[in-house]
Amino acid sequence: MSAEISVLQKARSAYQPKLPKALRAKDIKVELGAPTEPVGHKDEIQKLFPKTCGQPLATIVEGRGNLSTQPLNVGVVLSGGQAPGGHNVIAGLFDALKAANSGSRLFGFLKGPGGVIKGKYKELTAEVIDRHRNTGGFDMIMSGRDKIEKPEDLAACKQNFESMKLDGLVIIGGDDSNTNASVLAEYLLGQNCKTVVIGVPKTIDGDMKNEQIEASFGFDTACKTYSELIGNICRDSMSAVKYWHFVRLMGRAASHVTLECALQAHPNVCLISEEIQAKGTTLAEIVDYIVDVVVKRAAAGKNYGIVVVPEGLPEFISDIKRMIDELSTVLGKEEEYIRSLPDHSERLQYLNNRLTAPSAKVYGSLPGDIQEVLLHRDSHGNVPLSQVETERLLIDLVSDRIRLLKSQGKTEAKFSSLSHFFGYEGRCAMPSNFDADYCYSLGYAATQLVRAGLTGYTVNVRNLTKNADAWTAGGTPVTMMLNMEVRKGKAVPVIKKALVDLEGKPFQHFCRHREQWATNDDFVFPGPIQYFGPSEVADVCSVTLKLEKG
Ligand code: FBP
Repeated sequence: MSAEISVLQKARSAYQPKLPKALRAKDIKVELGAPTEPVGHKDEIQKLFPKTCGQPLATIVEGRGNLSTQPLNVGVVLSGGQAPGGHNVIAGLFDALKAANSGSRLFGFLKGPGGVIKGKYKELTAEVIDRHRNTGGFDMIMSGRDKIEKPEDLAACKQNFESMKLDGLVIIGGDDSNTNASVLAEYLLGQNCKTVVIGVPKTIDGDMKNEQIEASFGFDTACKTYSELIGNICRDSMSAVKYWHFVRLMGRAASHVTLECALQAHPNVCLISEEIQAKGTTLAEIVDYIVDVVVKRAAAGKNYGIVVVPEGLPEFISDIKRMIDELSTVLGKEEEYIRSLPDHSERLQYLNNRLTAPSAKVYGSLPGDIQEVLLHRDSHGNVPLSQVETERLLIDLVSDRIRLLKSQGKTEAKFSSLSHFFGYEGRCAMPSNFDADYCYSLGYAATQLVRAGLTGYTVNVRNLTKNADAWTAGGTPVTMMLNMEVRKGKAVPVIKKALVDLEGKPFQHFCRHREQWATNDDFVFPGPIQYFGPSEVADVCSVTLKLEKG
């Protein structure tokens, strides 16, 4: 890493994240509430997690009590995609450990869960932590997408933890990684291993939220970064008055990121996958809708505009979704063989016979590069949607249709298009004040759960629309958030993903305005994230959170 740091990073390193009142108290204790139940498939989850299913909710409160004051050895790992604020979670963990006992030590497992399995780690000293306070990225210990699931992986983890005399492991990850945390917790309990496992809700996708977890960290900063860029493009488009910009936004299956950016910047068209699925909208109908807006704006003399689409869109268009599901089942059984086929055309031919006729037709109609991407799954069974260029596909289809309408004399629209994909640009941005405070609080609270000896929990910090002082912190048993879902053709326990709620206030707000945003230039320009200045500018949370929590 370069020895030179930017003036902003230098000023920012002095920022002291805000903590909720309970976590600032001299004496802290953990109170346990009522037993819990899984959100779905209770019997199956109970059978798979006999030791941790039904554990009570935990709340961290001020008071003398039940937390260890012994020196503790704690490990931490970053899992999956980067999200702004990860370093602050680690800083919070570190500061809380040292505050409880200066002899405690924190170890960072390197390159994700693979580092836990292989026992690759480094001690995180004050010097390392200080260098990374309030910075974006996961470069302090790096991340990875390995999954701790095979019996030999679980056994290797146990061995590593025992040789490190580890009291706790904190897994910073999304829904899949937190599920993984509960699998590991259950296994370690069954093996009488003293290491407890705590998860932290991370993902820019914003889909790890429920009654207990109000938001995943990183969503706020990533959306503010993309919204700034979208706002800038809106301004450029109304200045140049000659381009239609198609922007695809990261976020995996859920459209939370896209919806939030639309609420912040008011683009002319915004597609929400969950609505498309609910209405059974086909690809042709999506194209009709965009063409309709292009034609209407052209009639008003506006041959420019902005379309934003979520990266998860293909999986929500009924015919494409059916094809992807079939493909996942085939890959679940024959992935190795399909990969061994020498080239694309042979794979295409083979799949033509393995898929049902309608799915084979849909698959065959996609561009070759998209067909190839759809043959990959990550270790959690997810399609690598960030590599599917839906925005280009839509541009092609819309431009074909406009050409046809023009040839029929039905429009005089000029359709000049540009495509963008915003994803990686926002995942390592310097965390907003919201994420810096939230993440530090999550880390600080995770340490208290480890001190309480709890295992198989995801840490929570709530009341997020209030001043940080009024935030509350605690732990949610992971099993409470689990249900069974089919992945790679097999039913497995996973945390229920939160998709956009079509009855929810953020989507309803969007619905009330989208027609007006389509034809007018009602763009809003959020500008760059502000780290200093008045609280109503610098500490503001996402529009989604504000609307959800009223
Ligand atoms: P997580 O679920 O791991 O937080 O992933 C976030 C994400 O940024 C998704 O939005 C995106 O689809 C994916 O990671 C991209 O994966 P990769 O980093 O492997 O390219």
